[in-house]
Amino acid sequence: MIGVFDSGVGGLCAYREIRKRLPLCNVIYLADRRNAPYGTKSKEEILKFTETNIKLLKSCGAERILIACCTASTMHHLLRGEEKEISIPIITPAAKVAAASGRKIAVIATRHTAASGAFSREIAKFSDSEVCELDEQPLVSLVERGNRDGRVSAECMEYLRGLALRVKESGAEALVLGCTHFSHLEIELGRLLPEVRIVSPARVGAIMLAEEIKAVQENGKVIYKVAR
Ligand code: DGL
Repeated sequence: MIGVFDSGVGGLCAYREIRKRLPLCNVIYLADRRNAPYGTKSKEEILKFTETNIKLLKSCGAERILIACCTASTMHHLLRGEEKEISIPIITPAAKVAAASGRKIAVIATRHTAASGAFSREIAKFSDSEVCELDEQPLVSLVERGNRDGRVSAECMEYLRGLALRVKESGAEALVLGCTHFSHLEIELGRLLPEVRIVSPARVGAIMLAEEIKAVQENGKVIYKVAR
C-alpha cells in the first residue's frame, strides 16, 4: 500500500496522479487538517507532524509514503530510521525539473518553505539558475476555503492576478508551485502566465514514486501491479 499525506487538500493532486498511473495499487491519503496550516508553524512542530503522519500511515499498512507537502518535505533530512527510508520528499525531484526549465525561476511556497531556502539550495545542485522564493502563505487558506468543485473563488482569482504580476516582475521563465495546494490553481496560473513554464512538485513527486513502484519486485513476485 502507498501512503500520501499533506496538511489538507494540496496532496490530492499527487494522490490523483498516483491513482491514474497505478490504478491497481491501494493508496491511502491523510489530510492532517487538525494541525493545518503547516506553513506558519515552527520547525519543531512541522517535524513532529511529519513523523506522526508517517507513523500513522505505516500503522495502516503503507509500505512507501509520498510526502505530498513541500513544507513537510523540508523535514525529511531530520527523519530517522525506517520513517526516513520509506518516505519520499518532493522538493529534490521538482528542483531537478525546475533547474532544467529556465535561467530565472520563481518559487511560490508557504512561509516556512520560502524562509527555509530549500528550493534554492536544491536547484543550485543542478544548475546556476537565479531563484526567487516568494512567501504566498495566504493562498493556502484561499485554496482550502474556496477552491471546491473545480471552481476558483473570486477572492482567490484576485490574489492570483496580483501574484502573476509579482512573477512577471521577477522575470521568471519557470514557476515552481512550491506548495502542493497551489497545484489546484495550475490551470488559472497557466492562463495568467502563458510564457512561463509551470513545475508542479506534487505531480513530479507522484510520477517519480509511480516509476519507482513499477520497478519494485520481491522474491520474483510483483508486489505492486501496474496498468500498461
Ligand atoms: N500543502 C503544503 C505544502 O506543500 C502545506 C500548506 C500549509 O499547510 O501551510 O507546503
